[in-house]
Amino acid sequence: MLKGKKVVVAVTGSIAAYKSALIVRQLIKSGAEVKVVMTASSHDFITPLTLSTLSKNPVYSEFTSSKESGTWNNHVELGLWADLVLVAPATANSLSKMASGESDNFLMAVYLSAKCPVYIAPAMDLDMYKHPSTKENIEKLVSFGNIIIYPGSGELASGLEGEGRLAEPEEIIEFITQDLRAKQPLFGKKILVTAGPTHEALDPVRYLGNGSTGKMGFSLAKKASELGAEVTLISGPVSLATPNPSIERINVISAHEMFEAVTAQYEHQHIVIMAAAVADYTPASFSQSKMKKKDGELSIELKRTQDILAHLGQHKKNQILVGFALETNNERENAQGKLERKNLDFIVLNSLNDEGAGFAGESNKVSILSKNNKSIDFELKSKEDVSVDILNYLIQHY
Ligand code: CTP
Repeated sequence: MLKGKKVVVAVTGSIAAYKSALIVRQLIKSGAEVKVVMTASSHDFITPLTLSTLSKNPVYSEFTSSKESGTWNNHVELGLWADLVLVAPATANSLSKMASGESDNFLMAVYLSAKCPVYIAPAMDLDMYKHPSTKENIEKLVSFGNIIIYPGSGELASGLEGEGRLAEPEEIIEFITQDLRAKQPLFGKKILVTAGPTHEALDPVRYLGNGSTGKMGFSLAKKASELGAEVTLISGPVSLATPNPSIERINVISAHEMFEAVTAQYEHQHIVIMAAAVADYTPASFSQSKMKKKDGELSIELKRTQDILAHLGQHKKNQILVGFALETNNERENAQGKLERKNLDFIVLNSLNDEGAGFAGESNKVSILSKNNKSIDFELKSKEDVSVDILNYLIQHY
């Protein structure tokens, strides 16, 4: 959730400011880009040098960086740069200034300029935290759309015990991650994606397979998870790493194993995307020992595998079913036929006649066909971008 996000960490003058070093470090570890702004009084608790080293960026506290040369720090630019602002720790004094819009320091000017979500993690002594004016300021800040990361309870710097302790850095990062996830369009949706080829064994060392790399399915799983979905990825034999740890991955080899794995998960899913290149045929018999070559031709008897997608279509309740069709001729007609036969909501067609399309390479060129002969054609794109198109289509239409 935080990867690539631009985060302004605003540090105010509380003893808890030392925790901002850990917050910055964890944000950087999560892949965020961080810029720190500090109030002058926070310098008493942690040095700008520490935070600038950890954030890999200069730290800003003043409106001017060099009075002699007349260089100024642009608070508006910084506020607009941010995808999110985190004020941690936020003292009673800073909460009051934010609530009243008092802009007498650089940090406040950045806060007032920001158009993005602002998370505020208060930290103060328990009586200050309990004071009606603090409560009122927090309520006001919530009513402005700010998000409060409430303090924890425990021993405070004053030696007193109670509420007011800055939430722990890991709790703050977890809170923001969950909050961002909950705002994603696919949050609360369970998506099952299949990917890769299947291998149909002839004997202990040989199989029938196809050239699917699994990239299309894996990038769909990755993007769906980034859009907030709970993703299960059922993959045939591929050499790809699971895109992120929140994706549940189930490895299978054969079409039959894929059938078993998919049907076991089906009932609990909201959306199923069958991107796997499932074998339509499997050897009629499996030789327990390695088949020895003989003179003359060899014929192998094949039997049909079960059509997983057609089975899902027959047993569909409220699930949205998405299929893929790889065609070489009569593309649209064939894909439309599959859409209807398998009772799908939409089908993603890629034609082997289009250069750069198909299951082997890095790119794909697809059309989405839905019921009543509706279709949208997309340009040739990377498989990641094709995934975004498919998921956006799903979000917009379903
Ligand atoms: N599919 C499946 N089970 C199979 C074969 C295919 O679930 N045994 C799924 C694929 O994952 C894909 C869709 O069905 O989403 C279309 O697959 P494709 O092989 O192109 O179509 P078929 O129906 O098998 O028709 P044909 O091979 O004749 O083109």
